[in-house]
Amino acid sequence: MVPELRESWWIGSVEIPSRLVLAPMAGVSVQAFRRQGRRYGAGLVCSEMVSVAGIQHGNEKTLGYLRVASDEHPLAIQIFGSDPEPMAEAARRVVAAGADIVDINFGCPVRKVTKTGAGSSLLDAPDLAERIVAAVAEAVDVPVTVKMRRGTDNGSRTCLEVGPRLVEAGAAALTLHPRSAKQLYTGTADHTLTAEFVSLVKVPVIASGDVTSRARAQAVLATTGAAAVMVGRAAQGNPWALREIMGDDAEPSREEVAAELILFMRETVRELGEHRASGFLKKFYAWYLGRGRFPKPFKQELVVLNSTEEVELRLLAAAPGAREIVERLEAELPDPATDILLDSLPISAYGGG
Ligand SMILES: Cc1cc2nc3c(=O)[nH]c(=O)nc-3n(C[C@H](O)[C@H](O)[C@H](O)COP(=O)(O)O)c2cc1C
Repeated sequence: MVPELRESWWIGSVEIPSRLVLAPMAGVSVQAFRRQGRRYGAGLVCSEMVSVAGIQHGNEKTLGYLRVASDEHPLAIQIFGSDPEPMAEAARRVVAAGADIVDINFGCPVRKVTKTGAGSSLLDAPDLAERIVAAVAEAVDVPVTVKMRRGTDNGSRTCLEVGPRLVEAGAAALTLHPRSAKQLYTGTADHTLTAEFVSLVKVPVIASGDVTSRARAQAVLATTGAAAVMVGRAAQGNPWALREIMGDDAEPSREEVAAELILFMRETVRELGEHRASGFLKKFYAWYLGRGRFPKPFKQELVVLNSTEEVELRLLAAAPGAREIVERLEAELPDPATDILLDSLPISAYGGG
């Protein structure tokens, strides 16, 4: 039976209210992104990869990733590292911070990460990978999951050998992005491999890669047997892709787009502070206002403005109806004064999985 996108499912003891999972993305998955993902239908959201070494050394910036708002749950926090014991200790910290699930990154192809023995390089060290999962699963009471690529080299089928071993070691679910580490984001995600993977592991599998529409999401669920699909790039500056996948109206009005962007900016300024947020947000202007929603010169104007306040004023001038929508959206969110920690939250320079 192919699951409906709106059907709930379980990872261990955690109920996930839909079959749509928002991907972890370094430099993207800030709290505003995750909360927005939940509002638009994602049943599970995930932090970007958090360095175990950073947690271990009490790096203030790294610890900033561990801030969880009440409307994010269920939330997975993803950790990366290469040593079982520090990873187990980091997992305890992550759970104490409020994670419902601890996810381990065995997918990041970026050299800065793989050269430390972490990320996708662990697919070539299955004994160590197994020990990491066992140590983390032993350390915490919440489900432990792993996100991985197919292997290092193009055409690799390493995931088919490693996946079942990680389940034996204690993984409660696995996410497969069926590209090789060498491929980075080129070519296509080969979900015929996901189908083979699903048939070999006895836990729920989340299929990641190139899911951009409801039709594609349904096809991936139907042809792979995966429990859920994960959406990454399609949701960047575009929560309406999530809405479309869930079966609701896709196209937002200009006012809705401007309002979501303004809300995203305000929340991100609270998370990162104005200085860091103003740089961080520039890529989001193009993502939100692209797709023919606003003219190109307008986007270019926003990118050169110095403060987010100026950007907000321009957006409101271009779409005055956005003001009322922002007010309504803000009224529906938990009160930031009591709910969300306002200290600066760091953005990693790494590029993920
Ligand atoms: C900018 C960027 C950052 C990413 N960061 C992470 C990360 O921190 N952890 C991770 O497991 N995957 C990361 N990924 C991989 C995504 O989670 C996802 O598996 C991949 O983008 C394929 O899905 P998509 O085609 O829906 O984007 C990242 C991808 C992108 C594009």
